[in-house]
Amino acid sequence: MTLQIRSIEEYHAAYQRAVDHPEEFWAEQAETFQWRKPWSKVLDWNFEGPDINWFVGGKLNITENCLDRHLATRGDQVAILWEANDPEAPNRSFTYRQLHAEVCKAANALKANGIQKGDRVCFYMPMVPELAIGILASARIGAIHSVVFAGFSAHSLSDRIKDSECKMVITSDFNSRGAKYIPVKKVVDEALNMGCDSVKTVLVYQCANEMIPMQSGRDKWWHDEVNPQSAECPATEMDSEDMLFILYTSGSTGKPKGVVHTCGGYMVYTCYSFRNVFQIQDGDMYWCTADIGWITGHSYIVYGPLLAGATSIMFEGVPTYPNAGRFWEICDKHQVTHFYTAPTAIRALQAQGDSWVEKHSLSSIKVLGSVGEPINEEAWRWYHEKIGHSKAPIVDTWWQTETGGILISPLAGITPLKPCYATLPLPGVQPCLTTSEGKEIEGNNVEGLLCMKFPWPSILRTTYGDHERCRQTYFSPIKGMYFTGDGARRDKDGYYRIIGRVDDVINVSGHRLGTAEVENAINQHPGVVESAVVGYPHDIKGQGIYAYVITTDPVSDEDKFRKEVMDVVSKEIGPIAKPDKIQIVSGLPKTRSGKIMRRILRKVAEGDVSNLGDVSTLLNPEVVEEIKTGAA
Ligand code: WT7
Repeated sequence: MTLQIRSIEEYHAAYQRAVDHPEEFWAEQAETFQWRKPWSKVLDWNFEGPDINWFVGGKLNITENCLDRHLATRGDQVAILWEANDPEAPNRSFTYRQLHAEVCKAANALKANGIQKGDRVCFYMPMVPELAIGILASARIGAIHSVVFAGFSAHSLSDRIKDSECKMVITSDFNSRGAKYIPVKKVVDEALNMGCDSVKTVLVYQCANEMIPMQSGRDKWWHDEVNPQSAECPATEMDSEDMLFILYTSGSTGKPKGVVHTCGGYMVYTCYSFRNVFQIQDGDMYWCTADIGWITGHSYIVYGPLLAGATSIMFEGVPTYPNAGRFWEICDKHQVTHFYTAPTAIRALQAQGDSWVEKHSLSSIKVLGSVGEPINEEAWRWYHEKIGHSKAPIVDTWWQTETGGILISPLAGITPLKPCYATLPLPGVQPCLTTSEGKEIEGNNVEGLLCMKFPWPSILRTTYGDHERCRQTYFSPIKGMYFTGDGARRDKDGYYRIIGRVDDVINVSGHRLGTAEVENAINQHPGVVESAVVGYPHDIKGQGIYAYVITTDPVSDEDKFRKEVMDVVSKEIGPIAKPDKIQIVSGLPKTRSGKIMRRILRKVAEGDVSNLGDVSTLLNPEVVEEIKTGAA
């Protein structure tokens, strides 16, 4: 087992050791895993390329570490416990032994359908155990999984399939989410009609009892392919730096990029961070409410917990179905000890009133976690008092798709907390704050751009098919460092507080969207000439989407127009990207070089029009007045 820190003194000692002797430090962690062949060098890196290699020459398979390694000691322990959307439906649980067998069967089915090491397999699935089984099956045979959140549109799905030339798509017939019953396979069919020639097979997991169209030769039922297979499948030997998965995420420009994580470093870091941040013990019931379509689900529903030999709960549904007490009901039902969710869910449930919480005891809760966006003080306090009975520590975990694992967070019960602070970096993580010119800001009580000076094992290696974009986005803005895109403050005690994105990325309910991406979608509406999108503070979502739109012709029915714009965005990206507010304008404030002055648009969206600063240098200062008075 990776080493687990037990006290704040041990934390400080580990931190210092990881700074002074990073290779020794990480070698010690890595030695606790099962390797087919040991590494010859712990770390070989430069941030200029970037070219980052951890556990160089080491050979392994991550699923042997998630599954096989535990069979002797934890074969009969539950690995994954699944709670259905329908509270009356039976749970499904898989012991480590059962999960091992299911993963092997699925892996054999992938092989039987022509999937080989290095092939990309796309997953577009609801939160059913077969999603976890499927990605582990892919990893077992050295294929590269690319999970696309099942709320994305056919268009987004097709872009992602094409970008990484997936050979197979694994999906389901339907997705039950709350009261909704979503035809998932239909979206895959639409996506594949947009020219995804690389896809040879679609494997469909059956959730419902309804006929759906199946294209002969291409579409196959999961149960027909998987059930007859053998429950033994030798794991494919992988190099530490072979790709494990691709996960698409939005940036400030262009289409979403495929963040690439590799086998060795990702394995070591997700397990290490999971054990240390959550301070997991044998017998604990750990529940992360994220979707496996996001990095949180990859690292802290599937890989981290399984590598650590924990029991991980997976939930199909939503927090408010059949009512706003569902999360707390599940906590009591399964005696959850560790509960990890997003601030947006906390705020939404808090808004429903305390009576939903008070119906349940929540006495099993030992540790609470928060992830995805800054947590406001009011939500923090409510979470702490009502859910944690003022006892359970809250780990406010800061990280990103690109970081693979948690970088800044309290260690539960060890690091003294401060509401809204992600507190201190994990050992092995070297954050720093810089000016926008890239000069490091030393000392405490300071604010700046959050960067990392030194690699940690699960840092992204590239963006799929476009290494130059990876360099430009993360490694060239601040020379010699990894740039996070976030601004942060370091207080008098050296604690970090994340302020939020400093680029054109918005965080809506913990989902990351690029403003350019949303603008491109809006511009698909034939009546739109140009648009500009900014984020604004939203009580529940953290940030809402505010769109300024210039139309070709005067709009007579504004409500109808707004609805059309939202439909276009839903269709282009997915419902999560729908603007909350749309303001029709005759022009956008532009600099003389033609750049949109987003600062002004942000201020107006925030409802703060008192101090817009100097607008006289604009090409069209007159539109500012119009925008102010017409604020949505
Ligand atoms: C962005 C990354 C990492 C899991 C989910 C989101 C924001 C994430 C926190 C936190 C304040 C946070 C940052 C970051 N963020 N966690 N604890 N406090 N902000 O992953 O979609 O890659 O988004 O989410 O702005 O850059 P992601």
